[in-house]
Amino acid sequence: MAVVGIVPAAGSGERLGASGPKAFAMCGGRSLIDWSLDVLEEVCERVVVAVPAGYEGAGGRVLGGASRSESVRRALAAAPEATVAVVHDAARPLITRELVERCLEALEGWDGVVAAARVADTIKEADSSGRVVRTLDRSALWAIQTPQVFRAEVLRRALDVDDSVLAAATDDASLVEAAGGSVRVVEAPADNIKVTRPVDLSLAEALLRARC
Ligand code: CTP
Ligand code: MG
Repeated sequence: MAVVGIVPAAGSGERLGASGPKAFAMCGGRSLIDWSLDVLEEVCERVVVAVPAGYEGAGGRVLGGASRSESVRRALAAAPEATVAVVHDAARPLITRELVERCLEALEGWDGVVAAARVADTIKEADSSGRVVRTLDRSALWAIQTPQVFRAEVLRRALDVDDSVLAAATDDASLVEAAGGSVRVVEAPADNIKVTRPVDLSLAEALLRARC
């Protein structure tokens, strides 16, 4: 079994508003992406990172695509030996080895496993006027994170679609689901947050500091 880490890190980080790409912004004294690479390099045989133009220099890096899933497709194409792909956003520095290992263990009998947290808020659906249409049953709802672990051949097939389909996808599991694949959730800590806005960076730094 060749387990390869696939790290989409090619986004510009528009909402964070840092001076450069988000994955290379400083977080707790090092680049945001380094926290994730430390963990993935312990668990995976190797890691392929999709990076923005100008960051391709080091080994194990490929040029990312126009959308997140295009970046995943490009990185996976650079790992033809992979039988299992561990996809993880550079933007989630709170990943742990324990979480990746639980996802890998849960893959037996499935095409994909996604780390997910139980939803704490009540979730309502509203129409364009703001009128509430319904209140969803929270007990069945999960907030989806990464890592997302897949049988690599299934993910390759799922990603072999039009660029416009990839651009509309907010995660890789949804593409696997659309291709008929079986995906399950594994409960993950809610503190495995994604750094999206400046407040998330401060929160991630505080959480990382509390771990040391
Ligand atoms: N990503 C990528 N290629 C893209 C877009 C995003 O590899 N074309 C990566 C980001 O680097 C990030 C992850 O996908 O690690 C999740 O995306 P997001 O949090 O949206 O990051 P950005 O796209 O960089 O941020 P923004 O949407 O605010 O510009
Ligand atoms: Mg984005």
